Amino acid sequence: MSKPVFITRRERFNAAHKLYNEKWTEAKNLEIFGKCANPNWHGHNYDLYVTVQGEVDPETGYCMDLRFLSDLIEEKVIEKTDHKNLNLDVDFMRGKMASTENLAIAIWEQLEAGIAAKGCRLHCIRLEETENNFVEYYGAS
Ligand code: NI
Repeated sequence: MSKPVFITRRERFNAAHKLYNEKWTEAKNLEIFGKCANPNWHGHNYDLYVTVQGEVDPETGYCMDLRFLSDLIEEKVIEKTDHKNLNLDVDFMRGKMASTENLAIAIWEQLEAGIAAKGCRLHCIRLEETENNFVEYYGAS
């Protein structure tokens, strides 16, 4: 009988961004996004939780080696975002509004294949922008 388990790795990064829709006037951007539209950017300390589902390997007792998962997140997400500007510097955010929602979805797309290659399934991306605001993404249904 299969016994799927869920394991989670937390990583952190900090990045600058602004929420600004170029199709709108300055006034409308300020009305919709408030301080988040500040032209000279602002930053967040993001907490990223990557949850993977898989079976326990009888030989290791692991679902997935968390060192592998950490290295994968480092390569695909942290190196590209940490101390960067999400609007300007990050290839996988190009052309997207730099919201927590879009960032969580883009991080999923960065990680899904590498996790699947190890025989596990990406279950959830939880991205905390502040201690009060966070997004969870479970993949396209
Ligand atoms: Ni912000």
